[in-house]
Amino acid sequence: MRSKTRSFIIKVSFSDREIKNFFLHLRLHLTFNFIMGLLKGKVALVTGAARGIGRAVALEMAKEGADVAFTDLAVDENAKKTEADIKALGVRGKAYASNAASFEEAHKVVDEVVKDFGRVDILVNNAGITKDGLMMRMSEAQWDAVIGVNLKSAFNYIHAVTPVMVAQRGGSVINMASVVGVSGNAGQANYSASKAGMIGLAKSVAKELGPRGIRANAIAPGFIITEMTEQLPDSVKEEWAKQIPMRRGGTPEDVAKAAVFLASDLASYVSGQTLHVCGAMNT
Ligand SMILES: NC(=O)c1ccc[n+]([C@@H]2O[C@H](COP(=O)([O-])OP(=O)(O)OC[C@H]3O[C@@H](n4cnc5c(N)ncnc54)[C@H](O)[C@@H]3O)[C@@H](O)[C@H]2O)c1
Repeated sequence: MRSKTRSFIIKVSFSDREIKNFFLHLRLHLTFNFIMGLLKGKVALVTGAARGIGRAVALEMAKEGADVAFTDLAVDENAKKTEADIKALGVRGKAYASNAASFEEAHKVVDEVVKDFGRVDILVNNAGITKDGLMMRMSEAQWDAVIGVNLKSAFNYIHAVTPVMVAQRGGSVINMASVVGVSGNAGQANYSASKAGMIGLAKSVAKELGPRGIRANAIAPGFIITEMTEQLPDSVKEEWAKQIPMRRGGTPEDVAKAAVFLASDLASYVSGQTLHVCGAMNT
């Protein structure tokens, strides 16, 4: 025997205000989960992030939901502030004192980060210095220091995270290069060579470790206003600004947002590239 089916219509009415609130909450929910969570569940390791571009990268990644480990030469007031600001965004953050130019120290930090955070999904080789001088006057010490801190450090950290990322079957490596690594610059032979090296290193890693799901890219910032560039004479800064079609120096956040893109799954098929963040200075 077939049973009778009955249908009911329930009438529910909402006020305009309730409907408006519903859509507001829905929008906030979607924003939080889909826009603010590009790096949710990922662990980032950023070198030289107590201040400047590194700090901005650490904070932008934390805003996108990543747990962030970072290094600098010392855990000083700047590093403590970066660590506190990361944690204030509701993710895990920890500062490690380490000289990025040291192979042993880089490996020790990566071991500690894996112990503390369980994995490393994103590596940002950001630590860098300048020791400018014309070729005739450049000392061997100036050359060695810049190559050691800028280029060898990137090798040190990539070497240390490779087994971790291979075991995870994925990862994103970002080398903080510079437009002068592409174009060269008078008085910066050491710095330009180190940055060109970081670009070649990223391309080689992309080719070698692509089959293991690891992506590697370089960012080439132009003139970015940080403590590093603050020391330049005003005349040099004015000259730089004239050469920038967007007529302003970049901010650390301009660079950090490009790093978030390259670290995220939005860039899932972007590897072996150099992304210029320079207000169209270098095209
Ligand atoms: N500011 C720019 O215009 C600009 C342009 C292109 C590229 N970059 C690159 O971006 C990166 C960051 O530059 P920034 O302007 O923020 O510089 P910055 O000097 O403000 O910050 C660099 C950070 O790296 C740290 N650091 C230096 N040597 C280190 C070492 N051996 N080990 C660990 N940490 C070390 C410093 O203590 C500092 O906190 C550098 O690689 C730089 O070459 C900067």
